[in-house]
Amino acid sequence: MYDILVNKEYGLPSNYIPDDLIEIDKKYSIKGMARIDAVNSFIKMVEEALKYDLHIINESAYRSFDRQKELYEIEYNIKKEKANNTIALPGHSEHQTGLAFDLCTNTHGMYEFADTDEFTWLSKHAHEYGFILRYPKDKEDITGYDYEPWHYRYLGVDLATKVYESGLTYEEYYKRHH
Ligand code: DAL
Ligand code: ZN
Repeated sequence: MYDILVNKEYGLPSNYIPDDLIEIDKKYSIKGMARIDAVNSFIKMVEEALKYDLHIINESAYRSFDRQKELYEIEYNIKKEKANNTIALPGHSEHQTGLAFDLCTNTHGMYEFADTDEFTWLSKHAHEYGFILRYPKDKEDITGYDYEPWHYRYLGVDLATKVYESGLTYEEYYKRHH
């Protein structure tokens, strides 16, 4: 059901907007919307982490085609071709699916997320709530993007668990199963 691959190879139409986006409660989020199942699972995961005094917060989730275009242009003006290692072209961002979340904590921004206990906890438990780390370290050649310790993708519990247990990137897993 959430088994869709959006990457440099596979894109979404510019007019695609998920029809079940909801606002993420400000208790768990700086801003933004995502698809309802992903939000509910995200909240379950955040609530569980809170029991261990871990504070996971969403920083950026759904982004429209036009918003991604603006972000790409900002990054391109700074980094030129290198922008393609860190930001997706409009139509090619998982954020347009409404199933991707960029995470931070109450004390650390998303670019420092790898150094947090929240990140360590998610490395073991995110799949139990249907999320995978989408752009792992040392997989840049396969995913097409630099390591992003903050970017999690909702796949649903069954699929996320299978991908997690396979040890594969989503690109590799998807290609083996389609
Ligand atoms: N930073 C990720 C790749 C995106 O722009 O969707
Ligand atoms: Zn992201």
